[in-house]
Amino acid sequence: MKKFGLIGWPVSHSVSPPMQNAGFEAASVDAHYSLVEVSPEQMEKVIPQMKESFNGWNCTVPHKQHIIEFLDEIDETAKILGSVNTVVNSNGSLKGYSTDGYGMEKSLEESFGTPIKGESFLFIGAGGAARAVALHFALQGAARIAILNRTIAKAEALQQEITNIDKTVHTEVDTIDGSKINTDNYNIVIQSTSIGLHADDGSPIAIEKLNSKHLIVDMIYKDTAFLKQAKNLGCQTIDGKGMLLHQGVRAWEIWTGEEAPVEEMRAALTQALAL
Ligand code: ATR
Repeated sequence: MKKFGLIGWPVSHSVSPPMQNAGFEAASVDAHYSLVEVSPEQMEKVIPQMKESFNGWNCTVPHKQHIIEFLDEIDETAKILGSVNTVVNSNGSLKGYSTDGYGMEKSLEESFGTPIKGESFLFIGAGGAARAVALHFALQGAARIAILNRTIAKAEALQQEITNIDKTVHTEVDTIDGSKINTDNYNIVIQSTSIGLHADDGSPIAIEKLNSKHLIVDMIYKDTAFLKQAKNLGCQTIDGKGMLLHQGVRAWEIWTGEEAPVEEMRAALTQALAL
């Protein structure tokens, strides 16, 4: 039986095992996916052990950068991001990929029918998740990207990275209220801050900045206050489940070389998140 897993610290909250295992079962792939809790200090010891026994694994916080020093090869996108969430072990040779941006790309295509090329995006937040998606979108030919963030220096650093990838992408930054930004210039709004994780959280941006034509994404896996307000405004909205599903589907396909049973994986993910 092939072995796959998720390394992170902590990982106990992860819903990847039911999602990935449902995929293996539906496609009759003899494999199992498990959680491997690894602290940063344990990486030196654990990764060589995993090379002996695992066929591949996902990496989450805090290992997405640290894992790179253990790899033999790195895919182009992951190299530009400096971040890896999927590792393939081919007879002791490790190759890293980043499937987070692809996950969001696929989720937008599935829910809104929108491509990335030529499209305009307003990101609320400039953390690790926003960065992976925004840089992937720059690589895929996005036309405009705005970044709003509480800490403006982080938004500016991400803006610079986008420009380094493709200077024809029109970029602008602002503080989180977005007071300087004309939101009419953006079609898709992506909420990537942690505001919304707690039940009593409000919305990171004044809803008056948006209108019913905006397509709204919240990377959080549930119906946040922001999504509820956007829905009341008449916007089409999605939460982060689609991104989570499709980053996992891509990892599954990289490991197996087969087309993933997406609907079975989606059903398992939905069920696990409802628990
Ligand atoms: P992730 O990997 O999920 O992106 P992260 O890298 O810690 O997590 O990023 C968290 C994001 O949420 C950042 O954009 C952060 O803003 P700062 O860069 O100013 O820290 C944002 N964030 C978290 N709590 C916030 C709050 N209370 N108000 C506004 N933004 C917040």
